[in-house]
Amino acid sequence: MDTSEPDALIGRFEALLTPQGRELLAELPGQAVTDADALRLGTALRARYPAQLVVDALGQQQLRHRAAEKFASAQDMFFTRAGWEQASAEVVARHRAHRYAEFGAIADLCCGIGGDLVALAAGSDVLAVDRDPLHLWMALQNAGVHGMADRVTTRNADVRDVDLRGVDAVFVDPARRSDRQRMRTGDSEPPLEWCTGLAAQVPAVGIKAAPGLPHDAVPPGWELEFVALGRDLKEAVAWSPALATAPTRATLLPGGHTLVPGPGDPVPVQEPGEFLLDPNPAVTRAGAVEELARAVGAWKIDDQIAFLAADRPVTTPFARTLRVIDSASWNQKKLPQRLRELDVGAVDIRRRGLAGDVDALRRRLRLSGSRRATLVMTRVRDRPWGLVCVDI
Ligand SMILES: C[S@@+](CC[C@H](N)C(=O)[O-])C[C@H]1O[C@@H](n2cnc3c(N)ncnc32)[C@H](O)[C@@H]1O
Repeated sequence: MDTSEPDALIGRFEALLTPQGRELLAELPGQAVTDADALRLGTALRARYPAQLVVDALGQQQLRHRAAEKFASAQDMFFTRAGWEQASAEVVARHRAHRYAEFGAIADLCCGIGGDLVALAAGSDVLAVDRDPLHLWMALQNAGVHGMADRVTTRNADVRDVDLRGVDAVFVDPARRSDRQRMRTGDSEPPLEWCTGLAAQVPAVGIKAAPGLPHDAVPPGWELEFVALGRDLKEAVAWSPALATAPTRATLLPGGHTLVPGPGDPVPVQEPGEFLLDPNPAVTRAGAVEELARAVGAWKIDDQIAFLAADRPVTTPFARTLRVIDSASWNQKKLPQRLRELDVGAVDIRRRGLAGDVDALRRRLRLSGSRRATLVMTRVRDRPWGLVCVDI
């Protein structure tokens, strides 16, 4: 973008909605193009369309291709790069919106390009607030693409200045200030304390946060829900007491499976068995590994380690089950020879509780066998341990 004037920027995107803009967009290829192809295409199109329109159409088309992994209707939606990167994927937003089903009027604070807005507006009226006018414009367009524009009222403001009277529930997705690994209070804008403080005005509050958010970062009585899409841990959602259903919860999407840690018999700690369970990261973050062990009849291999063992092939959405083909105390020297004996030619390395340079180890292995395996570097009853496993 070569202009910082919000109205001018919005005007450029509005031009893509004119008949000429739509005609140009329709001419663009249906799949992502290389930079070189985009350059060639741009040169050809500039002979027939205004240069700025071509630049914006090509830019938007590239973002739409990328956004297709998050949104089924990405081809018709509008994105900025940051807006797309930070937007909640449709399946995640829809899951979260279920907790708002009973509320007639919701505020979506920091609505961005509207990933969550679209899901929230499916069942309620939503006040969408963002201080970035372009994002707000895109959020309304994107709600329109999903047939929900008439449920949405937009407000271009700092969320701190918004009057929440008449609002039944709030969702807030603050901008993450720094890289994805930063997660403590203060790393978001507005800061987490401000977001949790909203519950004093409107009791029902949900806050999207980075998945590493520690439990002590939210006040007592709040729930932390850890949400994974497949095995990819996406986020933590902090739910105020009015919306909380458990202290922590692991939720796995797209299936919607959910696991809550609870009291129960202690899980035994024993040597590894014929099968190894690698819990989903949402289960680990939610502190629900023991709950999983009790549910499937598995045991722990170490007090501190989140791998579980079983003597039968367990099928559960909450963990990946592997068959153990070798289990021995960790001996890096003998490892290459052992892997050759097992005909292992390629390894994924999973390390938990055992220090080591995975890349250096991989280089040293020089494998040539025909099988693919998972090499698990871990601890068994506090002793360094190695397991060689294959998929079941
Ligand atoms: C993480 S994005 C929201 C993503 C959105 N939930 C989605 O799924 O598309 C954060 C947004 O917060 C906005 N923002 C950050 N601080 C703000 C503030 N103090 N007031 C209003 N908006 C703010 C940014 O402009 C950005 O659009």
